[in-house]
Amino acid sequence: MDASPVITIDGPAASGKSSVARLVARRLGYTYVNTGNMYRAMTWAVQNAGIDVSDSDAVRHQAGAVHLESPVVEGQTLVRVNGRVLTAEDLNADSVNRAVSFVARVPEVRDLLVAAQRDLTKLGPLVMEGRDIGSVVFPESAFKFYIDASEEVRSARRQAQGHADQVAERDRMDSTRKTSPLVVPDGAVTIDNSHITLDQAVDQVIAVLAEMGVASAVQ
Ligand code: CDP
Ligand code: CDP
Repeated sequence: MDASPVITIDGPAASGKSSVARLVARRLGYTYVNTGNMYRAMTWAVQNAGIDVSDSDAVRHQAGAVHLESPVVEGQTLVRVNGRVLTAEDLNADSVNRAVSFVARVPEVRDLLVAAQRDLTKLGPLVMEGRDIGSVVFPESAFKFYIDASEEVRSARRQAQGHADQVAERDRMDSTRKTSPLVVPDGAVTIDNSHITLDQAVDQVIAVLAEMGVASAVQ
């Protein structure tokens, strides 16, 4: 039984969950894990092998051959695929944005990555962010958050980051898939950050955690 706390942060595309999770982890002195990057890395590897991502059988076979590691650098996990650390450009390529929800709906891919995510508790206390962290990966966590924002705000935030990304289409696929769809996890505190700053959203998470007895390492 592992006693290290895992703070789970879920939410739709471009809601701000990665930024919130990274800053919360920094304030607490916990390791930050972006599980979307694990699904993106798997997608990159499958595409690199020439697989058509709409062919779930081919994706399933290829995924089993991918060697994915999560080295920790400066308080956060990176993704290393078959020995190569992927860059932000690799992970956020237009081709990956278009394909990732197809790869993420394959149950065997989810089984592999959920097991890898649970294994990361060996690193110590975590802030882990994604779509199913509070609902499936760590359902028994006492510290769950759901970061939301309106569709208009999310599209505008993604555009401002300079990515061509159909966030509405990814949300539709992520919310309607059979295996581990995006949901507000039982017991999660929802923070809508459409009209508040990133710092205000982080302060709200830290305030909820402080009430639950989770102390910040950094003020
Ligand atoms: O940053 P953004 O919200 O746009 O996406 P992401 O967190 O990088 O996740 C990319 C994709 O991976 C999502 O659209 C989901 O299809 C999938 N994903 C998932 O299925 N489960 C997770 N725990 C994290 C991501
Ligand atoms: O991880 P996710 O795709 O949910 O979102 P993100 O990459 O953390 O945030 C998308 C963009 O929105 C980033 O450029 C954030 O700085 C920005 N953002 C913001 O301007 N205000 C907020 N309250 C939250 C995020």
